[in-house]
Amino acid sequence: MKNMLVLTSGGDSSGMNSYLKSLTKLCRDNDIKLLASRYGFRGLIENDIIELDFDKMDFVENLGGSIIKSSRCLEFMQDDGFNKALKTLKEHDVQCVVVVGGNGSFKGARDLKNAGVNVIAIPGTVDNDLAYSDLSLGFETACQSAVELINIIRQTMETFDRGFIVEVMGRDCADIALYTSIITNADICITEDMQNDEILNCVKNIIKSGNESPLVVVKENLLDIDELANNLSKQTGKTFRAIKVGYAQRGGEPTNSDKMLAIELACATVKKFLNGEFGIAIGKNNDKIISKDISVVTTQRRLYSQRLYDLYNDYFSKKSC
Ligand code: F6P
Repeated sequence: MKNMLVLTSGGDSSGMNSYLKSLTKLCRDNDIKLLASRYGFRGLIENDIIELDFDKMDFVENLGGSIIKSSRCLEFMQDDGFNKALKTLKEHDVQCVVVVGGNGSFKGARDLKNAGVNVIAIPGTVDNDLAYSDLSLGFETACQSAVELINIIRQTMETFDRGFIVEVMGRDCADIALYTSIITNADICITEDMQNDEILNCVKNIIKSGNESPLVVVKENLLDIDELANNLSKQTGKTFRAIKVGYAQRGGEPTNSDKMLAIELACATVKKFLNGEFGIAIGKNNDKIISKDISVVTTQRRLYSQRLYDLYNDYFSKKSC
């Protein structure tokens, strides 16, 4: 029997469990023994390996998070940790390691490849910052959660004629911010450094045009939204509140699209495994499942999706700022 090992690493994203369940089903159907390393690369170092059994998976495809756990494992980047991981893979006679995660996790997969291990990488990150793939598992769910939260908050903000600032995740990638701004018809979307004066003028214009509850969407890691809310409240005379969507974006039931993407990626994983195609990252581009060399993929990061960026600019082309 052939052995495959899967792990989820870095920030979890909704759809990881859907992928794990589909992969387990397909491995069972194709006589592949599917092992899992708990807590990502850490499980390789600590020999924390379990076997996945489809009959015990109930309805995990509907859950956010990862049933095999995740972590950000710095030890894996040190020689000692890395060598322990290689030893564990040998001990369990693993023929391929499937790494589900984002950019940092893909670098771990690349390092394994460079050490002679067969790897397949699967995009699983809310940030959607892997440039080779239009979509990552969990991105759509994260946007859905952010939109739902904004729609709820908007009700109370409009009741009080308050302005509100919502910070969304994305690390260095603007995709969640752009997507949620388009869907919620945000008044300003801040995705890169913007001077305070510029934001203030923009907000003043929006208020002048008769909008009593301006919505400002901000990508994380750019500015202090509480400070911005205080400044805008002082300078405009209108009360502003600041809210971070935060980890609410990383959990929750995956959308149907994320579940479907998980199934497509699992099918492709098993096909590649059976064909002996390794050292690759599988993704989805122009509605097609594709694969690229993992060493190339780890050198490219997306700051924003051109499609979302263009759509945002087309849709809001008449905006004053
Ligand atoms: O990479 C996914 C992500 O959710 C980012 O959007 C965010 O900046 C980061 O992880 C948060 O990391 P942590 O879970 O370690 O706080």
